[in-house]
Formats: sequence, structure tokens, C-alpha cells
Amino acid sequence: MRLTVIGTGYLGLTHAVCMADLGHDVMGLDVDADKVARASNGDAPFFEPGLEPLLRKNLEAGRLRFTTSFAEVAEFGDVHFLCVNTPQAAGGEADLRHIHSAADALAPHLWRPCLVAGKSTVPVGTARSLADLLRQVYGKLLEAGTPALVMDLETAELVKVSANAFLATKISFINAMAEICEKAGADVVRLADALARDDRIGKRFLAPGLGFGGGCLPKDIRAFQSTARELGVESVVNLLGEVDAINLGRRSRVIELARDVVGGILAGRRLAVLGLAFKPDSDDVRDSPSLHVCGQLLREGALVSVHDPVAMGNAARIQPGLRYAGSVSEAAAGADAVLHLTEWADYRLIDPAMLATVVAQQNMIDARCALDEDAWRSAGWSFRVLGREHRCPAAAPPV
Ligand SMILES: NC(=O)c1ccc[n+]([C@@H]2O[C@H](COP(=O)([O-])OP(=O)(O)OC[C@H]3O[C@@H](n4cnc5c(N)ncnc54)[C@H](O)[C@@H]3O)[C@@H](O)[C@H]2O)c1
Repeated sequence: MRLTVIGTGYLGLTHAVCMADLGHDVMGLDVDADKVARASNGDAPFFEPGLEPLLRKNLEAGRLRFTTSFAEVAEFGDVHFLCVNTPQAAGGEADLRHIHSAADALAPHLWRPCLVAGKSTVPVGTARSLADLLRQVYGKLLEAGTPALVMDLETAELVKVSANAFLATKISFINAMAEICEKAGADVVRLADALARDDRIGKRFLAPGLGFGGGCLPKDIRAFQSTARELGVESVVNLLGEVDAINLGRRSRVIELARDVVGGILAGRRLAVLGLAFKPDSDDVRDSPSLHVCGQLLREGALVSVHDPVAMGNAARIQPGLRYAGSVSEAAAGADAVLHLTEWADYRLIDPAMLATVVAQQNMIDARCALDEDAWRSAGWSFRVLGREHRCPAAAPPV
């Protein structure tokens, strides 16, 4: 391990030498440049039996060096031992000035996870106040009232992964409701809107559609599943398996709809896809539901033109077989169906009448339940929405 020792007096120099002799890589720091120079030359500034030969041996072995630079120790160390002096103050209490000044000097240079271990003798409460100081990277947020929760490592690790599992479950829940709505002739968009008004439920992560993708949720729920399997918690394995299956099922459903609207066979049909990023306002295409659907359409022999405001470069590296268009109209030119797969705000502004002039067939599939269905239908489009296959009549306004 790479250790540092801050304060190389009686305690610190001895500790540094012994740790190096155990085989660790050690860097000692002192504010006293003379002490640093002497220790670097193998000259112990005080007598401790056997210390000097051991100091020289470890200097020669290259396991031990000394510095006056806090930036250097912060860069070097995985564990920092605070060994500065804590003399008696005038009133008899411990004088913690050196401890505070060492921690103040070290903290701004700490940029990666490390352990700061106190070896100086200090009054009770010092470690907690130092920990608070070294946590000052979050200082502004804490001052603004963001709560800081302290817990054991296992619970802390599970917090992040279970939060992602919950969000994924919420998305798959509404998408499972979309499947029910399709069969029952109900409208999942109105259902979601009504549920969201209950503040125990809320509207975030309750949007029905093509489901989640990206670099976090899919891999996180699968990793969590494998942890649950290792721990023998089958209920979590099964729950997350269903969440994943419902999510992937939405992609198959869009392909089914596309096949349906172009007459049952995708081979040779021209499809335009709007949106490639896994979510709007991003160029991230990792595990993108849209790109997955595009790949499947290509495998079935469709000719697929695509558009995305910013993600086309990243998508082209993964899926070079698509036709990358510079505009929505260019993508839609001659299309037998247009698929809206990532809900960029710009796509809500498309003029359905204008787009009607470039396509071969006016078929729109809104896989994100985000476009204005009435506007598209009024312009003569056949309009299919995931989860709203049998559209309910508009609700009468309250009298
Ligand atoms: N000496 C022992 O055998 C022994 C044993 C157990 C515990 N302790 C405790 O260890 C601590 C250190 O004792 P010591 O006898 O080694 O003291 P010391 O005075 O010999 O060494 C302290 C060193 O810290 C350096 N220092 C002071 N402020 C610094 C700063 N801001 N940054 C970096 N270096 C700084 C000083 O220059 C000095 O070299 C004390 O709390 C003491 O009670 C000592």
C-alpha cells in the first residue's frame, strides 16, 4: 500500500520507517524542512534504538522518501497517518493547532478516495470534527440543508443500487399498465396522468413508452439481480427479472406495431426513426432502446433512415447500417412509417401537414406517448401510440 506519514517526529518517523520495513511504499512529510533533509539522508534527528539502520535500509530499498509538499503526499497516498504533535496548552488541555493545520493543508489536495488515520493522541471528539473538515468537499451542499446520512458500508452500497432498481420498477410498472390498457381498450397516458396526481406516487419516472436504457439502469438492475441470486434472495431476482423483461418487451411491441402498419412484412419497407439517444438532451446511445429497435428493423430487412439532434455520430459508430439524415424531413422522405422513439422537445414541434408532403404513407408510431395525437390525426395521419391502441373518447369538460 502507499502510505504517508504527516509529522515525522518521534512517533511519525518511527512509524514511517517501520511501515516501509513491512514492505509498504511510504512518504513522510514534515513542515520542518531541516528534519526532512536529515531523514532523506538517513540521519535520524533523535535517538531510537535500531531506528537509523532501518531508516537507511528502507531509503536504499526505495520504499521510503520524505517531502515538505502536501500536494505530493495527497497525490501519493492511499492512507495518510496524522502524527503531528499535540502539546499541552496553557490551560492544561491538548493544543490541537498542529492537527488542524495539517488537516487544513491536506484536505484541498485530496481528489480521490483515501483514508486519513489519526495516530496523534487527541481528546475525544477530534476524529469526528476532522472527518467533518475532510468532508468539506460537500460543505456548500450541507450548509444549504442537504442531509448527510451516516450508515454502514453495506447499507450505503445498497442505497444507490436499490434507488435505481426502484426507478426501473416504476417505469416498468407503468409500461405493464400500458400492456393492460392496450388489451382493455384503456388509455395509459390518461392513467399515468391520474396516478401522478396522487402525491404518494408522483409523476417522475411514470411516463409510459419505450422504456429505459442508457449506461445505468439496465446494467444496475442486472448486477443487483446477480447479487440477490448470490445472496439467495429469489424474490428480488424474480422481481428485477420481470422489470427487465417488461422493459425489453416494449421494444418488441414497437417492432410489432411497425410490422403491422406497413402490411405485415418489414423487408424492403422504408422506415424513418426520430431519435437515437437513450433519452432526450443527451448524445448517449448506450443500451438505447431506439438503437435496439433500429437494429431489429434492419435485421428484418427494412430500410431505416434516422435522425437525432446530437446522437448520430455515436450511433453511427455502433450501427453503421442505418441511413443518417441531416433533418427530420430528409429522414422521413419516402417513408412507409415514421417511428418517434426518443422524445426530443423539437419533435413535438414538427408540423404534421409539412411532414405529410414528404412521406410515402402517413403512418406515425409514437413510442414515447409524447406527440399531439389530435394534431397528427387532423393532418390525415394514422397514429399509433404504445398503450393507447383503443383510444378513449376525450373526457367531457366539467360542467
Ligand atoms: N513520542 C511517542 O512515543 C508517542 C507515542 C504515542 C503517541 N504519541 C503522540 O503522537 C503525537 C506526536 O508526538 P511526537 O512525540 O512524535 O511529537 P514530535 O514533536 O516529535 O513530532 C511532531 C512532528 O510534527 C511536525 N508537525 C507539526 N505541525 C505539522 C503540520 N502542520 N504538518 C506537518 N508536520 C507538522 C513537527 O515539525 C514535528 O516534526 C502526539 O500526539 C503524541 O502525544 C507519541
